Amino acid sequence: MTEAKLVFDPFSEDFFNGAYETYRRMREEAPVYYNEEYDFYALTRHEDVAPGLRDFETYSSAYGIDLATVQSGGVPEGQKSIIFMDPPDHRHMRSLLNKVFTPRAIQSQKPMVVAKVEKYLSRVNPDGFDAVQDFTGPFPVEVITTMLGVPEESAQQIRHWIDDSLTREPGQVKMSREAMEINIQTGMFYYELVQKRRADPQDDLFSKLIAAEVECDDGTKRRLDDIEIAGFATLLGGAGAETVTKLLGSAVYLFAKFPEQWEKLVDDPAKIPAAVEELLRFEAPSQYQVRRSMRDVHLHGTTIPEGKPVFLINGSANRDGEVWTDPDKFDIDRDRTEAQNMGFGYGIHSCLGAALARMESAVALEKLVDFMPRFEVDFANCQRVHMQNVAGWKHIPVRAIR
Ligand code: HEM
Repeated sequence: MTEAKLVFDPFSEDFFNGAYETYRRMREEAPVYYNEEYDFYALTRHEDVAPGLRDFETYSSAYGIDLATVQSGGVPEGQKSIIFMDPPDHRHMRSLLNKVFTPRAIQSQKPMVVAKVEKYLSRVNPDGFDAVQDFTGPFPVEVITTMLGVPEESAQQIRHWIDDSLTREPGQVKMSREAMEINIQTGMFYYELVQKRRADPQDDLFSKLIAAEVECDDGTKRRLDDIEIAGFATLLGGAGAETVTKLLGSAVYLFAKFPEQWEKLVDDPAKIPAAVEELLRFEAPSQYQVRRSMRDVHLHGTTIPEGKPVFLINGSANRDGEVWTDPDKFDIDRDRTEAQNMGFGYGIHSCLGAALARMESAVALEKLVDFMPRFEVDFANCQRVHMQNVAGWKHIPVRAIR
């Protein structure tokens, strides 16, 4: 029997359900994969994705990091936030943000993170709740919006806006008109807040970004304008809330599937940081990063022409059996030094919020271990999200076993 044609469709049920079998075939049969329908290339091997993510001269972020934007010719003026920058602009912006996101600044947020986690966990009914809708969804957005300086009552509205702008139905490449309008609405919301903070600075990220200076190419310095700050806030909402939600949703699902791994955490909570790393590897919340090829690339006997969207699939590199032992085994005790885990990306764009994400995830798991040392998931009624580039769950019905 011949195997079915190898198709990687990032807007299909196969992708939404975790395309790990497709990735395996791509690594073996088509390490430089070409999708005729959408006209893009994809790299899946660890040995190709890692250098690809580092090589910003060959694989540029400046034309967008999703298929539709790269194909449309680039990021619209006024939406150029850090994630869409190549050096030198990226270097200048990142060094400004590194000054705001210092390890100390992140650590100082821990009591706030604990309070947000406890707030939502104390409201759930242990006899039956939805792990995503009741817990892993609502708290991360409150963490990042609190840090920014958004009033608490607006946080959940922002979460729904982000969800709507990332949602894709099977076959849908572009953002819907409705989603575009939502994005504009989000930008306007932040823009108004930035203006308020200019008039009345507080101890929050908005005020720090208003005060910070970015270096220009000629060595002079300038402040960020209101549109740049609002754009960055929009990015943080998406990058900083959706991903943590997905990681922790996957945690609940996977620990229910592999209860012996959960028992390890119950017996020894000191293993929680290692569990977070394994979750990032096993089910990378951000599965791929799209770039634009800036020259013809000759690789494994194939040529990627200049000007094409290229998917660098870190979710596949994290499951590559060439570098990981038993890559499809969820094992919190695995040897993490075997290879570079690319759950947070790699290279110059690697996650700015990694320390915050690790802290939030660890706090949430610590509290969950106490809250439900034994639990079960109603697997038949779990539902995945249909989103561009992020993979994870929308509904996970859970019951704590007493
Ligand atoms: C488990 C949670 C998270 C995951 C899996 C994740 C993943 C990633 C990945 C893969 C990238 C690289 C994007 C690229 O190469 O184009 C990235 C970049 C980024 N992340 Fe995260 N992220 C998480 C949490 C956060 C949080 C909490 C924040 C908020 C501070 C954040 C802010 C950012 C920003 C601003 C960038 C862009 C950095 C740059 O362009 O230099 N992320 N993240």
